[in-house]
Amino acid sequence: MNKKIPSKLLQQLYQALNGKNRHFGGFAHYTPVDDTIIARGWIYSIELEELLLSTDSRLAYLDLDRLTEYLEIPWRAVYKRPRYLSAGAMATNALTLADAACLLVRMEEMGFDSHPERLVEHGLRAQKDLTHVTGSEWTLLSYPKRRLKEEFSAYSDEQNDDGEWTPHNWKDAQGRRIKFTLVGKLPHILTVRGPKYRRPAAQGMVTCPDCGWRYTKGDPESAMSHRSEHARVMRFMNPRPIAAFNARLEKHADPELVIGDSPIWMHREVHQRALQFKCEFQYDFLQWEGSLRKKNLRAESHGYLFADHTDTHGPGAAIGACAFWQDGEKWRLRWIWVCLSMRRSGVLARRWAEFLRRYGDFEIDTPLSEAMVAFVNRRGTAKQKQCLQAQPSAESPDL
Ligand SMILES: CC(C)(COP(=O)(O)OP(=O)(O)OC[C@H]1O[C@@H](n2cnc3c(N)ncnc32)[C@H](O)[C@@H]1OP(=O)(O)O)[C@@H](O)C(=O)NCCC(=O)NCCS
Ligand SMILES: [Zn+2]
Repeated sequence: MNKKIPSKLLQQLYQALNGKNRHFGGFAHYTPVDDTIIARGWIYSIELEELLLSTDSRLAYLDLDRLTEYLEIPWRAVYKRPRYLSAGAMATNALTLADAACLLVRMEEMGFDSHPERLVEHGLRAQKDLTHVTGSEWTLLSYPKRRLKEEFSAYSDEQNDDGEWTPHNWKDAQGRRIKFTLVGKLPHILTVRGPKYRRPAAQGMVTCPDCGWRYTKGDPESAMSHRSEHARVMRFMNPRPIAAFNARLEKHADPELVIGDSPIWMHREVHQRALQFKCEFQYDFLQWEGSLRKKNLRAESHGYLFADHTDTHGPGAAIGACAFWQDGEKWRLRWIWVCLSMRRSGVLARRWAEFLRRYGDFEIDTPLSEAMVAFVNRRGTAKQKQCLQAQPSAESPDL
């Protein structure tokens, strides 16, 4: 954490951490967290204060509300379930077990002997079946791996130019390195490094040249999300033959057209490319009314799935897609996407005349990418070329 800390809170931390924990070392004797708290799933503020003070006497110096506000750990008003809905009820200030455990983890990072393990275990058990986690729950998940290896640092939120800068550092009984930088008499910066802290290796953002995903090098979570995105994108960046498409190409009169009665797999293939088009050009809306499970049944929509005429990717490989939309009498090309390896291979050029025959002198949705501008300049009708003058200049990421 690197955000500004309220100056009053920093002064309390200075006073507390300079003192001696009168309860240090007796952890084996601490009573476990009360079963009623565990069963309830909430810990009242008074119980939390007791729990904290039983492990670290220095916490008496701290204002708990100010600390939780700074750490963005949310208190909630909690009620006993009423027996009669009309009855009045008294609210008690409480934290969920996960938030309370997270508070204890943060306090340990700040130099206190809060012994989070007692609560972390219960917090983790409560979230075992969840598919999504809050920030606090994330802290608990990573706690066993990151314990005593973290660095906490915070700057006072008060401007203080009054006095000399003096460092005041020491190693505490746990082996943490605590450093306060004072300006005059007031603490201005606090840095606490766990006894097993290692300076992290430099992590940089990299962009995968094949799928275009940006991820953090060396971060396993980020590498994992890249792997799944890579696999998803490569399915249509580097397409494989689709047997059903190959069969359709041989038998069907209009094999590439995707409308209501086309098979769902064709709708799915077009949908994925519409998504890729949206991502590549950072548009807010998907211009395809279907989904992975649902066909696009809009009568105004004509999609196309492009087959590989060069046989580069094998028979029945789908190398791109596009979609037209009918507005009254007129048609317009909403989007078109060809996989990287097949661009400038004549995929669009060989279909253009047929598109003009079917859809007349159709419009093209703006803004146009640089490649599309080049295409229209070369192959477009006089009217399409005229529209180019009016369009704002487009920024295209990879063309
Ligand atoms: C724009 C796009 C659909 C063009 O399709 P394509 O099949 O690659 O185009 P073609 O191979 O049929 O190109 C025909 C001619 O158009 C011109 N052209 C096409 N792409 C061009 C480019 N990137 N730079 C310069 N000229 C280009 C060329 O004159 C080309 O003929 P040539 O290769 O013999 O010189 C394709 O590049 C694509 O999918 N790009 C990413 C998505 C996109 O930009 N969509 C359009 C949004 S408005
Ligand atoms: Zn990738």
